[in-house]
Amino acid sequence: MEDQLLWRLMTGETVSGMQMSEEAGLTRAAIWKQVQKLREAGFGIESRGRQGYRLVSCPDSLRAPVIAKGLDTQWAGRRIAYYEEVDSTNRVARRMAAEGAPEGTLVVADAQSEGRGRRGRSWMSRRGEGIAMSLVLRPCVHPSQVAMLSLQTAVAVALGVEEATGLQAGIKWPNDVVVGGKKICGMLLEMTGDEQMVREVIAGIGINVHEREFPEEFAKTASSLDLQTGRTLRRADVVRAVLRGVERARELERRDELMRVYREHSVTLGSRVRVISPGETFEGEAQDLTQGGGLKVRTDDGACREVLAGDVSVRGIMGYV
Ligand code: BTN
Repeated sequence: MEDQLLWRLMTGETVSGMQMSEEAGLTRAAIWKQVQKLREAGFGIESRGRQGYRLVSCPDSLRAPVIAKGLDTQWAGRRIAYYEEVDSTNRVARRMAAEGAPEGTLVVADAQSEGRGRRGRSWMSRRGEGIAMSLVLRPCVHPSQVAMLSLQTAVAVALGVEEATGLQAGIKWPNDVVVGGKKICGMLLEMTGDEQMVREVIAGIGINVHEREFPEEFAKTASSLDLQTGRTLRRADVVRAVLRGVERARELERRDELMRVYREHSVTLGSRVRVISPGETFEGEAQDLTQGGGLKVRTDDGACREVLAGDVSVRGIMGYV
């Protein structure tokens, strides 16, 4: 409800309480209550007597009007659903997609209670620290091409992170984005459709922004954008940059340049890796990508093996990348 008021305040105008109450069909006291709620959430709102209210400062917020301000994309994030807390933004996006949400619809949350990661792991999203976002994509592709879409999303986020931070971002196959050799973003792509055609893909993206501490198991491998830049970033700026990245990556794909950009960002290709799958573990050199987005690994006995993202964990021999 406060969002209607926030959309108006974000224009920078002084918003009359009287006019707002007429537009929203609420009493002026109800509008005042909404102003108070926004103030409690950190929005600096000046009361200018009879003239009304004016926004003078904006906190680090992921609310839809804050992300939308200055967003210059054509389709990515043109519709935004913000939640203070959800179980999983992927789950919400999936529901919205089933109800017909258009391509590019963004679901974003300040916290997730059941965030999901790849290979059945969970993903922690603590309130106000990182970004949990999911995009509804409607590619007209065969299910076998979804792995490529996952590489495309990795390029999108890497480009977005570079734009938002000015730092170089790398991609650890298939789609972890790393900065300074540490993971700052993970992705989970989930599709619906049949054997012939993908109906919709939910691209879930989790980005560490303000986190300073990580659970022990990730302490050596994870980092955040604040830690890597030495600055305190605004999460809405990062989301906008990623949404631009999503459109840039789609354009690269259209021009047949996506794999070149992926390879340029890859921190996996050319390095020695350990491949851990449910049945076996082996080591070798990550040599190239396959047509379908898999990883070609040359093992020490000279054999060439193709590794698919769904089944395995690929770790560098010397460290995480
Ligand atoms: C991984 O590295 O294992 C992937 C993590 C993906 C997490 C994101 S956060 C937003 C979206 N919602 C989820 O439940 N998961 C993804």
